[in-house]
Amino acid sequence: MTKHFTTAVITRSLLLFWVMAAMIPAFGQKGLRDALGNYFLIGSSLNQWQSAGTDSAATAVVKKHFNTAVAENCMKSGPIHPEENRYDFTAADQFVDYCERNGLVPIGHCLVWHSQAPAWLFRTADGQAVSRDELIRRIQQHIKTVVGRYKGRVHGWDVVNEAIEDDGTLRKSLFYNIIGEEFIDIAFQAAHEADPEAELYYNDYSMALPAKREAACRLVKRLKSKGLCIDAVGMQSHLGLHYPDLDEYERSIEAIAQCGVKVMITELDVNVLPNPRSFNGAEVSQDFEYQQRLNPYPNGLPADKAAELQQRYLDLFTIYQRHHSQISRVNLWGISDANSWLNGWPVRGRTNYPLLFDRQYQAKPVVEKIIQLFEKDRK
Ligand code: XIL
Repeated sequence: MTKHFTTAVITRSLLLFWVMAAMIPAFGQKGLRDALGNYFLIGSSLNQWQSAGTDSAATAVVKKHFNTAVAENCMKSGPIHPEENRYDFTAADQFVDYCERNGLVPIGHCLVWHSQAPAWLFRTADGQAVSRDELIRRIQQHIKTVVGRYKGRVHGWDVVNEAIEDDGTLRKSLFYNIIGEEFIDIAFQAAHEADPEAELYYNDYSMALPAKREAACRLVKRLKSKGLCIDAVGMQSHLGLHYPDLDEYERSIEAIAQCGVKVMITELDVNVLPNPRSFNGAEVSQDFEYQQRLNPYPNGLPADKAAELQQRYLDLFTIYQRHHSQISRVNLWGISDANSWLNGWPVRGRTNYPLLFDRQYQAKPVVEKIIQLFEKDRK
């Protein structure tokens, strides 16, 4: 009797547990991609070790949460084209293969950028400044080779990165100084010819600045008026806890969408550390001296700061949700805090906490909250 009773209780409990487990929509089982993937692509940049597949903790996060990825460095012109007659596709090939193996839409970053460009690009063999025609030829050749190699595999390219200054004028980069503003047109034209199916993007930081968003819109309209293809503008979104003003940020999403292209959030992270006084934007050449006061949380983020970070992310994803019909991709700049570039920039040797996954690749509580935000919207 007792034995039968016990067996019945255990069986019923198991049954009940099974039914409840099936009813609760798999708490903690859903990833960002399940909830947000109905609205836009969601992903991260991958460093070389991650896309080589040697970082198994990263792969676990990627498989559960993301459906797109960007190469953090290996497709930039310096690493991929170190000498005029030598390309190094090793890491870029691994990145595209990794994306295909793991269900990620691969995005190429970036074809024309003043940073991480190889020195040979702007110099002749005898060290003279390259001529306008020759630089145009080199850009076209570079784009044709890189985009052509991944034709039909890479979904879209950041064709030109960071060509606009914060005041809305064009950056006086070597591309601009030697060619003039048409370097942008030439790059978009070459990318389209190399893969007519690939989406093409303009990408920049500090896009909440009115002058910068207006300049990006002018650029989009100018390219379109010349019959060139541009599909989206990327707002890098290297943000802080208190900058930029989120109303301005949201206005930029609106304004860019009004120009007739999609908006992409391409390099999202939220810096929680104090900034050096003259720090600004996301120009990668900034390099400030280390000071202890700039690295206040080497052993963990205090609870009040963690709460601020969580709220900041919720505010941002609320904006993305509101504008989901205008946004086609949201991409974090790194998977875990351990490999964020913000540990080394703009001050080397700091401990930053800017991403959605902690140093052990565990989802921060905000991940579940973001999922709930988007699940709620679907009901
Ligand atoms: C950064 C990478 O994360 C670093 O590893 C590298 O040392 C410098 O570049 N804007 C961009 C990205 O478009 O390519 C930059 O990536 C961050 C700022």
